[in-house]
Amino acid sequence: MSFTIAIDGPAASGKGTLARRIAAHYGFRHLDTGLTYRAVAKALMDAGQPLDDEAAAIEAAQRFDIADMRRDVLADHTIGEAASKVAVMTAVRRVLVQRQRVFAARPPGAVLDGRDIGTVVCPDAPVKLYVTASAQVRARRRFHEILGNGGEAEEAVILADIEKRDERDMNRADSPLKPAEDAHLLDTSEMTIEAAFQAARTIIDARLNESS
Ligand code: C5P
Repeated sequence: MSFTIAIDGPAASGKGTLARRIAAHYGFRHLDTGLTYRAVAKALMDAGQPLDDEAAAIEAAQRFDIADMRRDVLADHTIGEAASKVAVMTAVRRVLVQRQRVFAARPPGAVLDGRDIGTVVCPDAPVKLYVTASAQVRARRRFHEILGNGGEAEEAVILADIEKRDERDMNRADSPLKPAEDAHLLDTSEMTIEAAFQAARTIIDARLNESS
């Protein structure tokens, strides 16, 4: 048996940081499923193929190595934007979801973060968290993150980008971003990552005690 922690939420909500922190604390493996969509988008971009070329996207989704996905290589916001276009294709999602489930099934446990983990990928996960924050707060965080890494950005452009991506992710026909009915909501607008981690820990410890 594998214990799965499903974490969903919009871009820059803090779900990735929280997922890594939880995985390290409990000794679970972690999969940032956003990177799987980004890997497919980047493969198409590198090959000069259009982002809606379904056959090419399916092939890329089957081919890339999950262990080789690198956040620094895939972090660019143009890749994130391209990933959300690739992510509307049902046939591509089917391939990636299957690979994500294989990752989740290996004991002792795994933390998966994304948009549809609690609703589609792992609907039976004993712990589901939905991490959110206002678009303004998320844009500000992303802005400071980019500056902190020595980059340049305009906060208004980031906000527009985030709003566009929310719109696409929440309104697509297949697996739209939404909280699972049994998800715990964590609004990090006015919460530090430490406070969010402590709140998550209380929820996870209670479920681990029940299942042991
Ligand atoms: O989380 P990240 O910004 O890396 O995700 C990039 C894009 O991949 C998202 O905007 C979304 O369209 C897509 N995605 C998805 N399902 C997931 C994870 C990401 O559709 N589980």
